[in-house]
Amino acid sequence: MRDAEVSQRLLAWYDQSARVMPWRVAPAARAAGLRADPYRVWMSEVMLQQTTVAAVTAYFQSFIARWPTVQALAAAQDAEVMAEWAGLGYYARARNLLACARAVVRDHGGVFPASAAGMRALPGVGPYTAAAVAAICHDEPAVVVDGNVERVMARLFAVQAPLPAAKPELVQLAGLVTPDQRPGDYAQAVMDLGATICTPRNPACGICPLLGICEAQHLGIAAELPRKLANAEKPVRQGVAWVAARGGLVLVERRAERGLLGGMLGFPSDGWDGSVQGAPFAADWQNLGAVKHTFTHFHLILQVLASDSDANPQRGEFMQLNPDDLPTLMRKAYDLAFPDKTPR
Ligand code: ADE
Repeated sequence: MRDAEVSQRLLAWYDQSARVMPWRVAPAARAAGLRADPYRVWMSEVMLQQTTVAAVTAYFQSFIARWPTVQALAAAQDAEVMAEWAGLGYYARARNLLACARAVVRDHGGVFPASAAGMRALPGVGPYTAAAVAAICHDEPAVVVDGNVERVMARLFAVQAPLPAAKPELVQLAGLVTPDQRPGDYAQAVMDLGATICTPRNPACGICPLLGICEAQHLGIAAELPRKLANAEKPVRQGVAWVAARGGLVLVERRAERGLLGGMLGFPSDGWDGSVQGAPFAADWQNLGAVKHTFTHFHLILQVLASDSDANPQRGEFMQLNPDDLPTLMRKAYDLAFPDKTPR
């Protein structure tokens, strides 16, 4: 196979089949000279490291509606951004998002650096996001490698070595086929291919634009690649959350900035995050059952205890609460405690 054939085929396919995304400039518009906005592309790429395009779209729209420019985001209150991020998971990313926006405004006059190297120097911006923004917004032929690209390269070149050890080889192969012409559309084309055709399970090889030059398809092993070292089971932690309500208000506290769900609102809880603070007040707490949640490094089973006692809490504050502002774990506890949505 000629290296150029890969990008030629993928770009021709992308011209026909590019997915529509609110931050994306479609290939015809790009060809007519329109450029993607780095603020929007950066934000979407940070969010896309958490979940799928379908799930990100609603979050992206509300962030952009609320903070239409990097200046607006830089001026936001931390807690507002954390609350808007709730549900996307991994709050360190939201904190980095803010730190990066503030650095762009403070150190770069509100303009994102135009090169991958410049982007990489911003707080919280890793090699993937830096390359993606430089390629998509500025057509720098940066090598963009996310999980989709790893999978496409592993199959195209039938790389048998397992991840994560195979990663440097996959990056090198991705570099080999990255074109100088239209590198931004090309990067988006490979990721679209990985998300829609070259999927982890049941790849649709019959309709793939790389059919005929894909070595794994030729060998009949596309679905088996990339191989992965079996990863250790995540440990299971146990914890307790105390959910107290009175007069329509709910007892919550702002969690410490550092640590799990840092800076987020939550019910007083302990056991699962290293803290052993106990109940917020002595009462006849009722066990409502448990909610389950999975963090990056462990599964959590959180017992939810409820009380409507009038005792004074030793920590936390009774607040009117919008459950949408809670991180997902706490939202699960809320839904268990208040199945009809409204606290007593
Ligand atoms: N997944 C992550 N970033 C993407 C992008 N820019 N295009 C398509 N899929 C993606």
